[in-house]
Amino acid sequence: MVKSDNRQPRAFIIGYPIGHSRSPLIHRYWLEQAGLEGHYDPIQIAPADLASFVDTLKNGSSGLVGGNVTIPHKEAIADLVDEVDETARQIGAANTLWLEDGRLKATNTDSHGFAANLDEKAPGWDNGETAVVFGAGGASRAVIHALLARGFTSVCIANRTEARARALVDTFGPGASAHGIDQLSELISGADLFVNTTSLGMVGTEVPAIDFTVMKAGALVTDIVYIPLETPILQMAKRQGLATVDGLGMLLHQAAPGFEKWFGISPQVTPELRQLVIADMEAHS
Ligand code: ATR
Repeated sequence: MVKSDNRQPRAFIIGYPIGHSRSPLIHRYWLEQAGLEGHYDPIQIAPADLASFVDTLKNGSSGLVGGNVTIPHKEAIADLVDEVDETARQIGAANTLWLEDGRLKATNTDSHGFAANLDEKAPGWDNGETAVVFGAGGASRAVIHALLARGFTSVCIANRTEARARALVDTFGPGASAHGIDQLSELISGADLFVNTTSLGMVGTEVPAIDFTVMKAGALVTDIVYIPLETPILQMAKRQGLATVDGLGMLLHQAAPGFEKWFGISPQVTPELRQLVIADMEAHS
């Protein structure tokens, strides 16, 4: 691998396959905006090679300052780094690595990305108390972490497989509760926030009819799926007069903490960056 010097830090995203990750587009935009001569490159790492790749990060021979971790390494990476922070530990997955004081550290920035997107698009969203989270997969863990950190006192997790929702309650404690999908309408009644974390609404899946009008006045509906940008769940909520926020901002904001750690500058999520990613999504749809 190419060695970097201090003026040209090199960061990465690893995955297998690495496919068409949008992270290089985002980080290279920020590098250009800041006039930095750093690098951010995708690297395909097979699961069998993950441990030796991490060794090259730890001993400095890769010349890399840190990077992002995506599927299928987000869970496995936690056992390989020197230090996992509390956020990544609770979420059970890490997506951001960096070297600090000679140690390889890991966090998960999805929780930050989720909250920062709503801070930008729906300020005051965290004044609510009751949230309904639809889905109990990997992505919902980050959402639940953010909701509890922002002071929601009741986070109701509704999932097709209720046992998965119960496993999340074991992790996150009594602020969360587990339910089946059949309880969805009951849970939504009077809620401040609804978050879809399921893959429902992506191509080829049918979405059940949901009556959002029973939510509290001024309630918000958001979806962490951003392809399509306006998911069927968001369309449904909008038609019923609810305020909605799409999930693209979560992708953009989750990238910011890593950029700051590797390149030393806090980047801005601008409308121009959002348009750049939308154009890329359209070009690859
Ligand atoms: P991710 O890491 O993106 O969250 P995941 O772990 O595969 O992905 O989780 C996908 C979520 O979408 C789960 O909550 C899943 O429900 P199950 O736990 O019951 O599988 C939910 N999901 C996917 N397809 C669904 C469907 N057709 N109906 C209801 N829920 C669905």
